[in-house]
Amino acid sequence: MTTLTDLAGWLSDEPAGDEVKAVVTVIAGACARISKVVASGAISGSLGAAGVVNVQDEEQKKLDIITNDILRDALQGCPLVAGLASEELETVEATGAVGGFLVTFDPLDGSSNIDVNVSVGTIFSILPAPAGVAPSEADFLLPGRNQVAAGYAVYGPQTMLVLTLSKGVVGFTLDADGAWRLTHPTVAIPADTAEFAINMSNQRHWAAPVRRYIDGCLQGKTGLRGKNFNMRWVASMVADVHRILMRGGVFMYPWDAREPDKPGKLRLLYEANPMSLIVERAGGKSTDGVTAILDLQPTKLHQRVPVVLGSANEVEVVVAETAAG
Ligand code: AHG
Ligand code: MN
Ligand code: MN
Repeated sequence: MTTLTDLAGWLSDEPAGDEVKAVVTVIAGACARISKVVASGAISGSLGAAGVVNVQDEEQKKLDIITNDILRDALQGCPLVAGLASEELETVEATGAVGGFLVTFDPLDGSSNIDVNVSVGTIFSILPAPAGVAPSEADFLLPGRNQVAAGYAVYGPQTMLVLTLSKGVVGFTLDADGAWRLTHPTVAIPADTAEFAINMSNQRHWAAPVRRYIDGCLQGKTGLRGKNFNMRWVASMVADVHRILMRGGVFMYPWDAREPDKPGKLRLLYEANPMSLIVERAGGKSTDGVTAILDLQPTKLHQRVPVVLGSANEVEVVVAETAAG
């Protein structure tokens, strides 16, 4: 059996700068450690609620806190990282370093799946840090096109790391010896699909364009769309987006009327932006229904946004429905 290239081997041929590669290496190491904690489950006593509510007004799980600490410690110790922001931290943290990069992350995505042993993940985004000064919150509010790199780890039947740096999307699988092996050298999303992912239990709360779009899918071969659609919803964005990267599909977490003042559920800076860069680099599209997610100007750290992403032609159908009002 030939030995597959590892992360260091792949990075040595990737045209991005050495500094960002070093930050990606630090994050990959933290994800490998997180994978072990996730896999140990009840043995290490890491399942269940922590009894604390976070800045999102969501009850933290023990693993939300453990994984946040692992990433935070790793990044605080990296001289190339000037600041970090996390779903689980109210404000941004400066590390003491100046220049280099800012990192935003969702340390544990899919928290509702932890205790039932369904795939969860980690999402991260790397942005340029301001030169010569310690970063403030305003320095993190950059459109997603400014990302220097983005990636996620999915802790599923296999632990995988999916990355984009200067171009393209690649996937690594965590080997028993702790090495990330390049198993998916070219990740590309097919332009067409007959599979959608949305939490159907919110149907009665959706706006008209989303209802019309999903109705069209549900009508099947004899309906407006003229084909049968399949549906999947893992309720871990990492797992749902990973499936779309592997075989196509469209993922939607739209605005809904349950909390009308919130634009959506997912967070722009550490969920929507990194996933959108990966999806675009894999040939797919990502939008809030009107504007490409990567072109949105963030206005606050924990900003939420409606998300539609995946197979390019299917995302365009949703955009056309939205434009029709
Ligand atoms: P997190 O666990 O980081 O808060 O994110 C959960 C998100 C996302 O992963 C997933 O797509 C969505 O919440 C699931 O929401 P529902 O439970 O409403 O389906
Ligand atoms: Mn999340
Ligand atoms: Mn999370």
